[in-house]
Amino acid sequence: MSAPSIPTAELNQQLKALLQAASESFQQAASLRDLYDLKVRYLGKNGSFSNLMREMAKLSKEERPTFGQAVNEAKAKLEGNYAICETRLTNAEVLTRLTAEKLDMTLPGPVVPNGATHPIYSVTREICSILARLGYAVRTGPMIEKNRYNFEALNIPEDHPARDMQDTFYIDREHVLRTHTSPIQIHVLENEAPPLRVIGFGAVFRRDSDVSHLPNFHQIEGLLVDEKVSMADLKGTISFFVRELFGADLKTRFRPSFFPFTEPSAEVDCSCPVCRGKGCALCKDSGWIEIGGSGLVNPNVFKAAGVEYPRWKGFAFGFGVERMAIIKYGINDIRLFPENDLRFLRQFT
Ligand code: PHE
Repeated sequence: MSAPSIPTAELNQQLKALLQAASESFQQAASLRDLYDLKVRYLGKNGSFSNLMREMAKLSKEERPTFGQAVNEAKAKLEGNYAICETRLTNAEVLTRLTAEKLDMTLPGPVVPNGATHPIYSVTREICSILARLGYAVRTGPMIEKNRYNFEALNIPEDHPARDMQDTFYIDREHVLRTHTSPIQIHVLENEAPPLRVIGFGAVFRRDSDVSHLPNFHQIEGLLVDEKVSMADLKGTISFFVRELFGADLKTRFRPSFFPFTEPSAEVDCSCPVCRGKGCALCKDSGWIEIGGSGLVNPNVFKAAGVEYPRWKGFAFGFGVERMAIIKYGINDIRLFPENDLRFLRQFT
């Protein structure tokens, strides 16, 4: 049996050329993707090397192992070349990404503006925390009130001229937008047993609007009920919290006044924080700013709420929160509070 020497030489030639072509194309691959496609083309199941292996059938039995080995060696060599090219391309691609996606950590980041608590809320919270130190607990009530809570139980009967003191927004025959926080006093007296100390706060509504009046403003109300309560206790409490809130150098002044739900009654003034009493536009040259009303709880209020009198006595006070914010921050126009002008609000961050 004679060996068909021509096919062997030819196949060997083809093998050499194939290895050369494959190695060169691997070298030239521009990306990992291309390189992988080339690997499939040359070394895959139906790739060039597998096809060449199939040609082996044309060889004699003796020649097959030698050629088979030559093909395997060539494939191994090509696999090695592939690995080298793969490393080179991987490194290149990583480097390109690192350069392209580089972050400049020295650039200033986007500015997220800080929110701020509204000055009305800040002042309310501060007053609550000062009075909490004196044992007061916080209570709230509805903004739409029955006439009974806003007026009658507070000793303001239907035909009483005091109803004219507060320009009321009526909802219907029985309901109003509360004109003050004093109705909270009635809710508390009806639901809790003395002795008690509570503060109520919230929005109140009146048909009134100018530089120093808003139709919707806020009040903070205090109520203390105990066995022995006098005007001296009331003055002591109010002077204490005014000093705590505005500073030790501000004075408090009590002027005799009238409220149907307190007897005796007093209006409370605070020395002007802007001119310190010398006289300026804010205090209209008086040196004082009115912050609210106060007095001893009128027995008629206790009677209406079912609280035993004279066993229990009490004092109450109600202050305008906007007024107090004006004093605290030296603001000259009350209308700035509800306007939501960011240039104003940002100053409280
Ligand atoms: N409710 C009164 C007002 O709005 C203020 C006040 C409260 C007066 C409690 C005395 C006692 O003007």
